[in-house]
Amino acid sequence: MSQGSAVFTYQNGELCCGALPLARLAEQFGTPLYVYSAAAIRANYRRLAAAFAPLRPLICYAVKANFNLALLRLLRAEGAGFDIVSGGELYRALQAGAAPEHIVFAGVGKTDTELAEGLAAGIGWFNVESADELSRLNALAAARGQRARAALRLNPNVSPDTHKHIQTGGARNKFGLPLEQALALARRGGDYPAIDLRGVHIHIGSQVPSAVATLAALEVALDFAAQAPNIDTLDLGGGFPVAYRDEDQFPTIEAFAAPIVERLLPMAGKLHIHLEPGRYLVAEAGALLATVQAVKDVAGRRTLVMDAGMQTLLRPALYDAYHRVLPLEQPVEQAQVETDVVGPICESADVLARERRLPALAPGDRLALLEAGAYGFSMASQYNSQPRPAEVMVDGGQARLVRRRETYQDLTEGEL
Ligand code: LLP
Repeated sequence: MSQGSAVFTYQNGELCCGALPLARLAEQFGTPLYVYSAAAIRANYRRLAAAFAPLRPLICYAVKANFNLALLRLLRAEGAGFDIVSGGELYRALQAGAAPEHIVFAGVGKTDTELAEGLAAGIGWFNVESADELSRLNALAAARGQRARAALRLNPNVSPDTHKHIQTGGARNKFGLPLEQALALARRGGDYPAIDLRGVHIHIGSQVPSAVATLAALEVALDFAAQAPNIDTLDLGGGFPVAYRDEDQFPTIEAFAAPIVERLLPMAGKLHIHLEPGRYLVAEAGALLATVQAVKDVAGRRTLVMDAGMQTLLRPALYDAYHRVLPLEQPVEQAQVETDVVGPICESADVLARERRLPALAPGDRLALLEAGAYGFSMASQYNSQPRPAEVMVDGGQARLVRRRETYQDLTEGEL
């Protein structure tokens, strides 16, 4: 059985974040509850920044991974910019005090409204994904008497070995433009007088298991930069992997960065580098706490029914994703029972974990799902009219509520 993580560890038999027992947080704030470690987020940011430091990159945190304002402010204080994919994320980044010039706007379907909001805010970069988007951005910028700085997102036709739902760089994926189409657009710069087309962007997927595919995509981007006029910025996207299982063997961020740094170092100074990490910065820093509601035998398998489910953490239902499950009280007994952990939602896909060895547990006992800081709360919903959970940030030994638990009133607010 897993013995905790680097961030959430057993101390005197209790699973803790820093020195704080998670059981105490569950009692104080209720469950389901997301708990984040500020120290872990800072450490991850600094480690990633150090790994890529020779390239002096602008690190734009991918807001979609976890959009809580407290977390955005924390990363801004570390020096991060933001990678946004909607007007809503722009609103959040600005609320968090982001410097507009450190915001990059990605996304395959930006609306005119969203593009205009980006122009009004004076964001640094639009990562453009189609000829139509480029024309619309040009027209909107011209109408405002502005020039928009843009990068073209390439579709490099490179697919990393990751879950098919989170591959984005394959020729049949909807993202970006193939090299030839992108080059044709870049050469017609005169058609877009209100666009300052200076960058190239790639992001081939999430949970990319090694730098191999990234390096292949990087070659396509460098090919573009060599052939298109005026390219001085290269956005490498995100995708840096996180270990969810005890046996996951991914390269460290240092090992992932090393060949990329080596390839790009000769161009440093001429080429500005952007990075868009999401998961790497926040996944391990977060845990989801949940309480056992019922213990059932389902076709011979012990099954724990929790108060958290696919409405709280969608990843297992959507991607068959694996999250480690630990009891908040360290098990003393050796005998562990094969267990499924499920949620309360009226869907058979609402399974959080399958076939885990867990100790005897009864209603009222609590579990933590680890590596839940990325794409956890941000993909949560109110399905089955379940109010979304609270979020707590642990910093310097103190726990702070950074999002209150939703109420029934929150469920109907906005309905007419
Ligand atoms: N940049 C762009 C343009 C992206 O689309 C994404 C993620 C990132 C950066 C950040 O990727 P990361 O460093 O977090 O891997 N919901 C899925 C992940 C979807 C990722 C979408 N795009 C999951 O829970 O695994």
